[in-house]
Amino acid sequence: MSNRFSNKVALVTGGSTGIGFAAAEAFLREGAARVYITSRSQDTLAAAAATLGAKAVPVRGDVASLEDLDRLKKQVESDGEKLDVIFANAGVAEYNAFGTTSEAEFDRIIGINVKGVFFTVQTLLPVLRDGGAVVLTSSIVSAKGMPNLSLYNASKAAVRSFARTWANDLKERGIRVNAVSPGVTETPIFVNGLKLTQEQQEGFAAYVKQSAPLGRVAVPAEIASAVLFLASDDASYITGVELSVDGGLAQV
Ligand SMILES: NC(=O)c1ccc[n+]([C@@H]2O[C@H](COP(=O)([O-])OP(=O)(O)OC[C@H]3O[C@@H](n4cnc5c(N)ncnc54)[C@H](OP(=O)(O)O)[C@@H]3O)[C@@H](O)[C@H]2O)c1
Repeated sequence: MSNRFSNKVALVTGGSTGIGFAAAEAFLREGAARVYITSRSQDTLAAAAATLGAKAVPVRGDVASLEDLDRLKKQVESDGEKLDVIFANAGVAEYNAFGTTSEAEFDRIIGINVKGVFFTVQTLLPVLRDGGAVVLTSSIVSAKGMPNLSLYNASKAAVRSFARTWANDLKERGIRVNAVSPGVTETPIFVNGLKLTQEQQEGFAAYVKQSAPLGRVAVPAEIASAVLFLASDDASYITGVELSVDGGLAQV
C-alpha cells in the first residue's frame, strides 16, 4: 500500500457518504494525518466520522452558506492546520422539468453545486498550502444534455469550467486544480436526490451495463482512486483537466 498522503491534511466536502466518504477513507488509508469531512446532516456525519476514526474531523455545514464555510476555515485555523488538499465534492442531483422549474429549485441546485463549490474553494484558499491540490467533483453530464436535468447538467459544466480557470488563477501559488467526472456510481444520491424507485435504479443499471464498455456501474472507491491520483504528486504535471471515471460510458 502506498503512503502518498503521509502527514498531509485534506478537506472533503460531502464526506459523509458516497464518493466523498470513499475519498476520506482512501486519504486516511494512504497516511493522511487528518481529514476534515463536512455535510449538512449531523447524524450521518457523526456516523461517518466514527467509522473513519480519530483522524477524521467532522464539521457540520452547508456549502451554500458562506457563514458555514467561514466557520470551517476558522476551525482549520484554530486547529493550527494548513490543508494540502481540497476535495470540493458536495453536490445534489435533482430533476427539474424545463417549463415548470421554480426559482426555489434553481436556487437550490445552483446554490449548492455552483455557488457551493465556488465559495468552498475561495473561502478555504487562505488555509491551503502553496503547492497544494484542488479536486472538484463534476460529472460526465458536464458535456451531456440528459433530459429533465438542465440545472444539474449546467451546474457540473460550471464546475468543469472552474477547474480550467482556477488552474490559471492559482498557478503562482503552485496549486493544481482538476475535476473528476464520475459516471453512474452506486451512492445514495439516486434515492435521496433523484428519488428513483428500486425499479428505476435497476433500469438505470441495465442501461449502463449495455452502454458502457466496462458494462457496470462504478463503486465509490473507484472514483476515490482517481481523486487521490489527481490530488497526489503522481499528477504533478496535471492541472486544468477533467478526468472521466465512467467505465467508458460517455467516451464511446
Ligand atoms: N453517484 C453518481 O453517479 C455521481 C455521478 C457524477 C457525479 N456525482 C457527484 O458526486 C458528488 C458526490 O455525490 P455522491 O454520488 O457521492 O452522493 P451522496 O452519497 O448523496 O453524497 C453527497 C454528499 O454531499 C453532501 N451534501 C449535499 N449537499 C450539501 C450541502 N449543501 N452542503 C454540504 N454537504 C452537502 C451530502 O450530505 P448531506 O446531504 O447530509 O449534506 C453527502 O455527504 C456530487 O457532487 C454528485 O453530483 C455523482
